[in-house]
Amino acid sequence: MASAYPITDHNYDVVVVGAGGAGLRATLGLAEQGLTTACITKVFPTRSHTVAAQGGVSAALGNMEEDDWRWHMYDTVKGSDWLGDQDAIEYMCKEAIPAILELEHYGLPFSRTAEGKIYQRAFGGMTTRFGEGPAARRTCAAADRTGHAMLHTLYQQSLRHQAEFYVEYFALDLIMDDEGACRGVIAWNLDDGSIHRFNAHMVILATGGYGRAYFSCTSAHTCTGDGNAMVLRAGLPLQDMEFIQFHPTGIYGAGCLITEGVRGEGGYLTNAQGERFMERYAPSAKDLASRDVVSRSMTIEIREGRGVGQSKDHIHLHLEHLEPAVIHERLPGIAETAKVFAGVDVTREPIPVLPTVHYNMGGIPTNYRCEVLNPSKDDTDRVVPGLMAIGEAACVSVHGANRLGSNSLLDLVVFGRAAAIRCGEVIEKNTKQKEPGAGSADLALGRLDRIRNAAGTLRSADLRLEMQRTMQSYCAVFRTGETLDEGSTLIHQAWDKRPDMVISDRSLIWNSDLVEAIELDNLMYQAVTTMESARHRTESRGAHAREDFTERDDQTWLKHSLCWIDEAGQVTMGDRPVHLTTLTNDVQPIAPKARVY
Ligand code: FUM
Repeated sequence: MASAYPITDHNYDVVVVGAGGAGLRATLGLAEQGLTTACITKVFPTRSHTVAAQGGVSAALGNMEEDDWRWHMYDTVKGSDWLGDQDAIEYMCKEAIPAILELEHYGLPFSRTAEGKIYQRAFGGMTTRFGEGPAARRTCAAADRTGHAMLHTLYQQSLRHQAEFYVEYFALDLIMDDEGACRGVIAWNLDDGSIHRFNAHMVILATGGYGRAYFSCTSAHTCTGDGNAMVLRAGLPLQDMEFIQFHPTGIYGAGCLITEGVRGEGGYLTNAQGERFMERYAPSAKDLASRDVVSRSMTIEIREGRGVGQSKDHIHLHLEHLEPAVIHERLPGIAETAKVFAGVDVTREPIPVLPTVHYNMGGIPTNYRCEVLNPSKDDTDRVVPGLMAIGEAACVSVHGANRLGSNSLLDLVVFGRAAAIRCGEVIEKNTKQKEPGAGSADLALGRLDRIRNAAGTLRSADLRLEMQRTMQSYCAVFRTGETLDEGSTLIHQAWDKRPDMVISDRSLIWNSDLVEAIELDNLMYQAVTTMESARHRTESRGAHAREDFTERDDQTWLKHSLCWIDEAGQVTMGDRPVHLTTLTNDVQPIAPKARVY
């Protein structure tokens, strides 16, 4: 196989796959320490999906009123419905403060208070005094374009430190050796069609989420979870795949994100009767309850006939009561998005919105140092040598069953930084990489060749639509055993159709047909494991709402789910304990209790 595809070799201390917020923060940290670093990315770095993040990044800076990282930790554990690992959550919330101040010093153009401090706004589920005090204004914002500002800052800083970028290189598969260690990655240069082997002491997967497994999502078309799929093909498990976050306010029809920052600035939701219905579902937090709670409440309103519009199938988000100056200064991006995608002038009319797939809480299991785990029966936290994962691709797990808004940009920054720190500790700079074995490229090139020469009858666009519609209908905000069983049958049928795909263009140069077919193949692994993980968990927790098992069941299910998949699409389920202890004595563990807002 290798002879049909000449390979160019590269040697680095570390290879980072992905150039979103997490990948760039890691790249910058590695280059800063003098580790030779390559960042491989299928899109130009500043076009990565982080660019679309709007509302902000959380950190208990206390710029608006008193705050404490322990309160942030409490909110995050509660938001996770106790499925988050408390050692990792402690690390994230504590490290948030230096990590965000560092970003400020790197030049991130945050919005400012009158005193010149970083401006912070309210976000869902963020409170003070261990949930007993008022809402926290903890989300640091650069208007409603925080991700954009972050990505540009990190890319510029990475260039300043001479990090090397391989732009429009599509990573195909990991190179794993016989001892189960990762030795590098095989990538395809989309521009000239050449194949590259990156040999490294460490591969860091920062490949983002897989929102595009669904029909309606806020994710970019590039969000196909390529790293997650590589991990599954390497025979390693993914964790907590059943937990899919629906953002309450995607624009009806278009799916584009309208930031939670709108509600943080005083926006609110109404049903067809003009009622502010969140007061019934979350009397204390109301519209700023956590996302799973708001999305479920909206879905119930629609189901019970109180949706707005001709088909009564969506909800209204109001901000026309806000001062135009506030909208202009704090929310200019969503005003434009609402105009373009919903034809709405937000100073006069509400925005039509609907819960839309936004984030994957599940992914590649790691510890708080970002090392990938290959849990086994005798040693649950065995580390995979040479492999790390960060950002949405990873399941550290700091978000557990439900992520709080603005904890995602934080996760990217804190764990991108942590991965670089850990590499600095464990890698001896400029030492020789292990020689790749004879068959090191076989998995990647065998698959590339098979898909490239697919000569069936089914177009990848049609199969993709079948997968997306199945996930949207059968693995939705609310689930039952019946819908999941049906969904399982349908998603396996879609999986089985992969050999019947057809590729019309066999070129290796800028062949978007082939790129999309490979991305679809990656998505399919994740769609199947998501559906099976959702079938497996017979309780309701966070974003996983089973109508046939309506309660959280800590006795049986206070554990992470693990899933493996083989080439026939057979999924094996397992589990791993949740870390209910903290990292240090700076804070006490937070015991599970009922989760009300
Ligand atoms: O609503 C938002 O601005 C999204 C933020 C997030 O997902 O963290």
